[in-house]
Amino acid sequence: MYSALQQELTTFEKRTPKSAEAHKKNLRRLPLGVASNYRAYDPYPIFVKEGSGSKFRDLDGNEYIDHNLCFGALMAGHCHPAVMKAVSGRLTTGTMFGMPHDMEWELAEEICARFPVEMVRFGSSGTEATMHSIRLARAATGRDKIIKFEGAYHGLHDSALVSVKPKAEEFGDIHSPVSVPGGLGVPKAAIDNVVIATFNDLDTVKQRFRQFPGQIAAIILEPILMNVGLCLPEPGFLEGLREACDQNGALLIFDEVKTGAKLGWGGASEYFGVRPDMICLAKSIGGGLPLAAFGTHKRVMNLISQHKVFHGGTYNTNPVSMAAGLATFREVLTRDNYTHVDKLSEMLTGGYRKIVAKSGLQAYIASAGANGALMLYAKEIKNYRDWINIDIDLWRHYWFGMVNRGVMAQPYWWDEQWTISVQHTEADIKAHLAAFEDVAPALAKAQQERFATAAR
Ligand SMILES: Cc1ncc(COP(=O)(O)O)c(C=O)c1O
Repeated sequence: MYSALQQELTTFEKRTPKSAEAHKKNLRRLPLGVASNYRAYDPYPIFVKEGSGSKFRDLDGNEYIDHNLCFGALMAGHCHPAVMKAVSGRLTTGTMFGMPHDMEWELAEEICARFPVEMVRFGSSGTEATMHSIRLARAATGRDKIIKFEGAYHGLHDSALVSVKPKAEEFGDIHSPVSVPGGLGVPKAAIDNVVIATFNDLDTVKQRFRQFPGQIAAIILEPILMNVGLCLPEPGFLEGLREACDQNGALLIFDEVKTGAKLGWGGASEYFGVRPDMICLAKSIGGGLPLAAFGTHKRVMNLISQHKVFHGGTYNTNPVSMAAGLATFREVLTRDNYTHVDKLSEMLTGGYRKIVAKSGLQAYIASAGANGALMLYAKEIKNYRDWINIDIDLWRHYWFGMVNRGVMAQPYWWDEQWTISVQHTEADIKAHLAAFEDVAPALAKAQQERFATAAR
């Protein structure tokens, strides 16, 4: 580890002793000392105490401008007043019934007004939304296989945990990537039914349709690959997928768990002008409460109506989450708020670009809607295999450097990206940029030294 990174880690440990202590206690009873593997990192994760608006405080009382926002699930920011009002109104009138109520059609109407879907079912997590969508697509087509892109993340069920972060020694030829299980316990039969293509490479998709004629139920994808920092689809790519699905009788599933609420008012279909057959929503649609939805054509949803495909869930449409969802759609994810966030995004990305140019850092800024990322590459990445060539120590230097200056610039992990919430202000963005301006020269110097060492 190089000395500037070591210094940042030493500062981090000095600032956060209570997190270290709490993590030790967690480790005794929770694997990795966390409740989700994504929350674990070395030397230990920051333990949170409380949050409000655009900020949170840790156990030691340090305050951070928050661009992690629960891995992008809080476009509303913490404790948005409209969401809090709606939620508190429901806390004393029954939090779960397992019975229908009239917020269901109201929220379904909101979703159908924004996204090109006719009917909706609800759940609590993105994993559920993608799992049920894939099952429906299989039922609608009578086919078992799906196409998934290498490096894409769609949650934790067996059909999604394939080639999420495959290692170079396992992933095979880029023109025909191998399906690699994302850990033990994923059955071989599940892996055989997930065929892998390369993002931004239509030929790999067409080749899969040729290889498995009449066997592919759907293509599932994030319209913007957000499990590799931020990787935009090249012009024509999404349109090409639409065409390939139409030609082969397969469904196009947009996993909009991240993009749905954060790209703009109508999500990726509005942003890119491409209509999928199914949409998966979660994260930011709940305004801070667990809420998910999947939607599609009536023709496909009829499979549920006719009891041919089963969908259920004890927590589905619990009134607290639904009240939060309604408040989020009506008072948070408004056109005015998207204009506000777009303005802040321009300020943040423009500021980063200036600092990168001034410092001589070899990097670029990728951004779309409320999301963005400092990409530590000399040229733009197009797919997962480009992404893996990252200098992890340099990225850690950036992240801990920012954290030590009171800015959680994005979730920990170099595959993530920042989110700007509707509650962020210009002052937050200025403070974020000031922290980056402070970190960037040391980062650029470390990068140059590492290039020189590698060249020797
Ligand atoms: C694109 C995408 N799909 C699905 C999921 C799974 O969502 P959840 O963690 O709510 O199960 C995630 C979570 O990060 C995601 O980013």
